[in-house]
Amino acid sequence: PTGLIADELGRPLHDLRISVTDRCNFRCVYCMPRAVFDKDYAFLPHTALLSFEEITRLASLFVAHGVHKIRLTGGEPLLRKHIEKLIGMLSALKTPDGKPLDLTLTTNGSLLAKKAQALKDAGLNRVTVSLDALDENIFQRMNDADFPVADVLHGLDVAHQVGLGPIKVNMVVKRGVNEQEILPMARYFKNTPYILRFIEYMDVGASNGWKMDEVVPSAEVAQIIQSELPMQPLAANYAGETAKRWRYEDGIGEVGLISSVTQAFCHDCSRARLSTEGKLYTCLFASAGHDLRALLRSECSDREISSVIGQLWRARDDRYSELRTQQTEGLASPLKKVEMSYIGG
Ligand code: GTP
Ligand code: 5AD
Ligand code: SF4
Ligand code: SF4
Repeated sequence: PTGLIADELGRPLHDLRISVTDRCNFRCVYCMPRAVFDKDYAFLPHTALLSFEEITRLASLFVAHGVHKIRLTGGEPLLRKHIEKLIGMLSALKTPDGKPLDLTLTTNGSLLAKKAQALKDAGLNRVTVSLDALDENIFQRMNDADFPVADVLHGLDVAHQVGLGPIKVNMVVKRGVNEQEILPMARYFKNTPYILRFIEYMDVGASNGWKMDEVVPSAEVAQIIQSELPMQPLAANYAGETAKRWRYEDGIGEVGLISSVTQAFCHDCSRARLSTEGKLYTCLFASAGHDLRALLRSECSDREISSVIGQLWRARDDRYSELRTQQTEGLASPLKKVEMSYIGG
């Protein structure tokens, strides 16, 4: 039952994103607003989480189906205890033709300086770090945590020094909150080894109160940068890449624009998502996932679980972002979408 597969729309399965915790020490307004994720919020109990053995078992089945990139997400993945142990287990997996995986992780950077060396030693290839502003007040307004920008920048440098790379920096742009940081961020990262990516604020989850007029379209971001730092488009690194790549005309530095709202990229989306408690989601905007943990904790064989994964992927026809309409806006309770902190970015 294993082997390479394509979904209903002909899209292969290449990328597995695994959420290892639904907790985070930040409260980004676009992801885990404090009013919802407060001290009474019911995070998952430890027994609900997939164990490292369970994650690795599932990952190996996904790899047999064609996955060659695994990204650990959260919540904040570095909050999961002994995460380097999981990385060690996953880095031992090989693709069917014997190649190592592209093993990476998305983090808010708060624990990166402390953990970078251990992550590298365990076999992590690279990291992507979220950073929404350089200005302390704006940064604080975006992530609603008491954490200095300088510490995230230090985390980036340590990660680079230990050889985790290429490192990307993700900036979500929210109109009226951090758009004035677009140019300062572009200037700052232009002469560094880091690839800065601007992300359109998305209507993911059901807590962030998303409105279309708070999205700064990538075309506008590009214009703002071009006004001072001329850029030229670059070809994609691979089919299904989230970011449109640009390089500066003077040749130093690259930026990416992730236009999930204004130019959806569902047509070649090859990403599967495994939630913290082991549900498989075939789209970031799905309202339900398929419970693989129940299979893991039953008497099911690898063969049986693998066949379920294959069936779910073959039946996949999700393309939420392409179908999204402005109706999403203003409806009291739009779709019942899962939270990004649970499903993983
Ligand atoms: P690379 O492997 O470095 O190319 O990373 P990536 O761009 O696949 O992953 P990353 O986690 O850095 O994605 C950046 C952001 O793009 C995420 O935080 C999301 O905001 C958005 N994004 C990623 N995947 C999807 C997707 O499948 N659908 C939508 N709508 N947005 C996505
Ligand atoms: N819109 C766009 N990106 C989001 N992320 C989380 N919530 C949103 C949202 N509403 C992404 C950011 C962050 C990563 C962890 O998740 O890119 O860097
Ligand atoms: Fe935490 Fe990342 Fe969500 Fe911010 S975007 S609250 S850092 S999981
Ligand atoms: Fe993929 Fe769904 Fe995102 Fe479209 S909206 S790119 S199908 S995860």
